[in-house]
Amino acid sequence: MAKRQWMVVAAALLLAIVTACKTNQPSSSPAATSNSSASQSTPDQFAAVRTIYDKECKSCHGQNGTGGPVKLEDGTKLKVPSFREGHALRHPDSDYLKQITKGGDGMPAFEKKLTAEQMNDLIKFIRREFQAGAAAPAK
Ligand code: HEC
Repeated sequence: MAKRQWMVVAAALLLAIVTACKTNQPSSSPAATSNSSASQSTPDQFAAVRTIYDKECKSCHGQNGTGGPVKLEDGTKLKVPSFREGHALRHPDSDYLKQITKGGDGMPAFEKKLTAEQMNDLIKFIRREFQAGAAAPAK
């Protein structure tokens, strides 16, 4: 009787050890992978797009979107208009999208480099970052 009880305990213990080992395997938890895209309320919702701007646009449009004269590596001189005044305030998002997609007048085309979503984020970024407080652009 006593011996039998001991065996049951031993078996249970063994089972516990086996299951513990199994569950201790470094498996990726489903919670970690279900990382949904950043919501609108994230404090720095522009973090990703800011990186794109810094890399692709800042060299011409400037840290503050003021543009100005730019000399490219091949010696080409450009006069980049400011996002903060003039035409840029009157041009609707559709014009912006076209300009970013196709480029023109000195600006390179980004249709192969950026996704439509990234371009739209850039437009939102320009409106918010450089034009906040300015007259609302015509739609
Ligand atoms: C090589 C320099 C250069 C780079 C790099 C560049 N741009 Fe431009 N961009 C220009 C110039 C020059 C113009 C003015 C074109 C014109 O006169 O029509 C312009 C115009 C624009 C306009 C239109 C503004 C208006 O008045 O309607 C937008 C929007 C714009 N750029 C966004 C971007 C974004 C976003 C990026 C980065 C993804 C970028 N640009 C990268 C040179 C550049």
